[in-house]
Amino acid sequence: MKRIGVLTSGGDAPGMNAAIRSTVRYSLSRGVEIMGIFRGYTGLINEEMKLFNHRSVSNIINRGGTILKTARCPEFMAKEGRQRAADVIKKNKIDGLVLIGGNGTYQGGIELVKEHKIPCIGVPGTIDNDINGTDSTIGSDTAVNTALEAIDKIRDTATSMERIFVVEVMGRDSGFIAMQVGIGGGVEDVLVPERKFDIDAMCHDMVEGNIRGKISWIIVVAEGAAKAEDIAKKITDMTSLETRVVVLGHVQRGGSPTARDRILGAALGAAAVDLLIKGEHSKAVGVISNELNVVDLETAVKPRPTKINQLYELMKVLT
Ligand code: F6P
Repeated sequence: MKRIGVLTSGGDAPGMNAAIRSTVRYSLSRGVEIMGIFRGYTGLINEEMKLFNHRSVSNIINRGGTILKTARCPEFMAKEGRQRAADVIKKNKIDGLVLIGGNGTYQGGIELVKEHKIPCIGVPGTIDNDINGTDSTIGSDTAVNTALEAIDKIRDTATSMERIFVVEVMGRDSGFIAMQVGIGGGVEDVLVPERKFDIDAMCHDMVEGNIRGKISWIIVVAEGAAKAEDIAKKITDMTSLETRVVVLGHVQRGGSPTARDRILGAALGAAAVDLLIKGEHSKAVGVISNELNVVDLETAVKPRPTKINQLYELMKVLT
């Protein structure tokens, strides 16, 4: 392994920079050259890359986003796109790739290994925390804390004005952020894509609560479960109670990474390089119970078992 390439792909996540920094500096410490590839698979196809040195990653550990930039790349889903990427990899004498991203990124890696025998190691970077083989993905802790901070602020006005708020958080296929902030923020209800939801029962509870004097509610909705706007309208239609809607959106993806995400990024970037040096391919790194964990990329992209039902029950008991 003489030269490694590193890229970030898919949705950016706070802590990706810590992972890039670790990948770059650890490679150099092992005598391996490191090529920074810009704009994910799109940049790989278009040969947007340059050799990095120690200082290329100075002063980035505290920054959100990714200095390599990122993109979603439909071209890479087709064989021809991957062929072009493989040609660029060969031309630039890259012996293996560190792929920092989520499921889509890993899927791209699986195909590159299969079709072109290019060693790929995945580093989990996504706020959704929906990758198998790791307790936590880089960025998920920061995103949860960002959403929680917003919910705490919403609570101030919700209780003061005795209102019902419906707050939409990110997660197209994953209820992770919604459930975490549901419990951490002590909210009244949570809607997630992984779980059926009985809106009639919730509205019934609201009306009953209202009679007893409980007027202020915070409902958290993961974007993949429903649109907050629609839920708020249904609540008003069914209960005649006034609602307010907040869509947190991409603020959840930005900001300075938490200590946890930086440390995870630092650990996993180096671990990925180690695997490439050892001759591994098609693996993904993660941390389970504070120990480094390595799984096949194919395993990493399988649906992740979640404890969403247990967490939901806990949240309801504590409401
Ligand atoms: O990166 C994951 C994620 O933030 C999901 O939670 C969300 O559904 C999606 O990305 C949004 O993607 P985009 O920024 O491309 O609209």
